[in-house]
Amino acid sequence: MDIKTGQMEAGQTAVGADHAKFREMKEGTQEDWSIISKHYMEFASDLPDRVLTHLKLLEGDFGGFPVCRMEHSLQTATRAHRDGRGERYVVMALLHDIGDTLGTYNHPEVAAAILKPFVTEQEHWICQHHGAFQGYYFFHFLGMDKDVRDTFRDSPHFDACAEFCEKYDQAAFDPDYDSESLEFFEPMVRRVFAKPLSSMYVSDD
Ligand SMILES: [Fe+2]
Ligand SMILES: [Fe+2]
Repeated sequence: MDIKTGQMEAGQTAVGADHAKFREMKEGTQEDWSIISKHYMEFASDLPDRVLTHLKLLEGDFGGFPVCRMEHSLQTATRAHRDGRGERYVVMALLHDIGDTLGTYNHPEVAAAILKPFVTEQEHWICQHHGAFQGYYFFHFLGMDKDVRDTFRDSPHFDACAEFCEKYDQAAFDPDYDSESLEFFEPMVRRVFAKPLSSMYVSDD
């Protein structure tokens, strides 16, 4: 334990009234889980801050593209917002590439997992599949099948995902576009992430 900060170092054991007492979960008591629940609620309320902090990692990351990944994200969200999309959709558009930093080989799934409790089924589907649908515009330049999105023709969300890519995602690489700032979208992120629409950890009542 750091005496000045009260912070524990890695490997140290939690002792005190504010920590659960069990050493194995099967020893857990109601008191333990009341303590953990309190901490969970506090941690959950900071989720929008963690999301916004992680999104900022895209700033200055060009990867050879005409605009950095942050500008691309802002531009995608701005185009969706100016086209009259709802708040959850716009937040999905803002965060659709947030998985680029850790999900190098599956970034749409990372973003979709973060968004899933807070958006509609269709918005989640769009985010999860936008990678395959974006391929329509460039996979053939990389020796891949540009029509791989056709795998999903039977989905009720096919047209919505194609529209997201056509109108907002593939269109958001213009260095001269007047995108809104992250500060503009921040209140939307906070409202959308304030309460999940669905989660196995949150009851409906
Ligand atoms: Fe993407
Ligand atoms: Fe994108």
